[in-house]
Amino acid sequence: MGDFVAAVDHGTTSTRFLVFDHGGRIVAGEQLEHRQILPKPGWVEHDPVEIWRNTAQVIEKVMADTGLSWRDLSALGVTNQRETTVVWNRRTGRPYCNAIVWQDTRTDVLVGAMAADDRGRLVRHRAGLPPATYFSAAKLQWILDNVPGVRRDAEAGDAVFGTLDTWLLWNLTGGVDGGVHVTDVTNASRTMLMDLETLDWDDELVRIFDIPRAMLPEIRPSAVPSGHGRATGDGPLKGPVPLTAVLGDQQAAMVGQLCLEPGEAKNTYGTGNFLLLNTGTTLVRSGNGLLTTVCYQFGDEPPVYALEGSIAVTGSAVQWLRDQIGIIRDAAEIESVAREVPDNGGVYFVPAFSGLFAPYWRPDARGAVVGLTRFSRKGHLARATLEAICHQSRDVAEAMEKDSGVELKILKVDGGVTANDLCMQIQADLLGVPVSRPVVAETTALGAAYAAGLAVGHWASAADLRDNWHEDRRWHPECSEEHRTAARDTWRRAVARTLDWVEM
Ligand code: G3P
Repeated sequence: MGDFVAAVDHGTTSTRFLVFDHGGRIVAGEQLEHRQILPKPGWVEHDPVEIWRNTAQVIEKVMADTGLSWRDLSALGVTNQRETTVVWNRRTGRPYCNAIVWQDTRTDVLVGAMAADDRGRLVRHRAGLPPATYFSAAKLQWILDNVPGVRRDAEAGDAVFGTLDTWLLWNLTGGVDGGVHVTDVTNASRTMLMDLETLDWDDELVRIFDIPRAMLPEIRPSAVPSGHGRATGDGPLKGPVPLTAVLGDQQAAMVGQLCLEPGEAKNTYGTGNFLLLNTGTTLVRSGNGLLTTVCYQFGDEPPVYALEGSIAVTGSAVQWLRDQIGIIRDAAEIESVAREVPDNGGVYFVPAFSGLFAPYWRPDARGAVVGLTRFSRKGHLARATLEAICHQSRDVAEAMEKDSGVELKILKVDGGVTANDLCMQIQADLLGVPVSRPVVAETTALGAAYAAGLAVGHWASAADLRDNWHEDRRWHPECSEEHRTAARDTWRRAVARTLDWVEM
């Protein structure tokens, strides 16, 4: 068995390949960004061919730079941005169109109609999800109905669907020369097509979205000792490394943060924010705007479920300030710009660029900056952006407490934005509980590596991993209860301004 375990971590903005040692430390890594294709307001696309090319390149670079061979790797885990939808031809290997990204809102009318009738109730009950533009099924239906030839080829068995895990696995295991067409329970639980109880595609849901069943991948547990497949010799790993784990990125972060017991929760600050609470083998249905999702399933053990609060726009609001508005040169600069002012100066920013996700589920919301005066400057907008990230997280934390009855005592955090000290302080202030960041902030990739390594016995048990988790920093609330209450009230008024903006 090799000394290391590797992970492909494909996210909304970039793809990484990381190699971990037995202590869960990063030995080597490489990252490449891919293009964000924005053809119209509300549309967000990625080029699947570019993503596969980037994946191959980061793997090849790490292997070449470190001198590692495929024999040094016990196993490979794959983790991915969830919901983003690809359809390709299994004979040619070519996608029919760009992938439709989870943030894309082109299906708002379709899901809006569904949310109001019996179909919406069925989706909520079987899939654990509110009908929303966020999830894969409506995106897939859009491709079938709008891209010439796809429905015909799907019915003939040639056009196949996958989220990004499926696309990458298919390519890593040989593509047109026998690539496996599989997904795992965590990714499948984000499609609106899987029954959360049977963990299989649901005939009625598949019919509602008018999807030819033959184009759907096989659903597997997240981690399997025998592997979902093996890398091919002529692929970037140059040898048969077993691909033993596949998990959606937020579920992988749960594993990386070792939130493996009921009641344990984490918040990942990426393009969006995703707060998940492990509910064990109990499937908890939300009454407060959260999702029920599969957290992971290891081998033939029963599935573990989670409640999730998904927030569409957090880190991507910082990117927007950088790329579209131009008030910062790089993402890290937001902290110094925000520190130029002592407070938000009355400015509130609700970045409802993809409508509002949890706990509101309002595809008709659009972003707003409110409270502007002649006094307002860029520091206020920067601070309002950081505050928006934290207010939205508090919104979902409140919903989670109501659903679970578990009071949040501390929030484990990870992801790029957690490097921002000011943002983490604001988070502790607005939550009124401490915020804790681990030493290895790459918890998504680490979680995929842990799942892959556990499957092949590289780590004996989850208990074995506990010693690898170390706190790097903890932020304690510093503001008064009075300030917190006033800020929360104003935030709620700002959110109200963004609703009903688009006529459905
Ligand atoms: O559900 C979307 C989520 O998986 C995206 O995660 O890390 O790419 O922002 P990230």
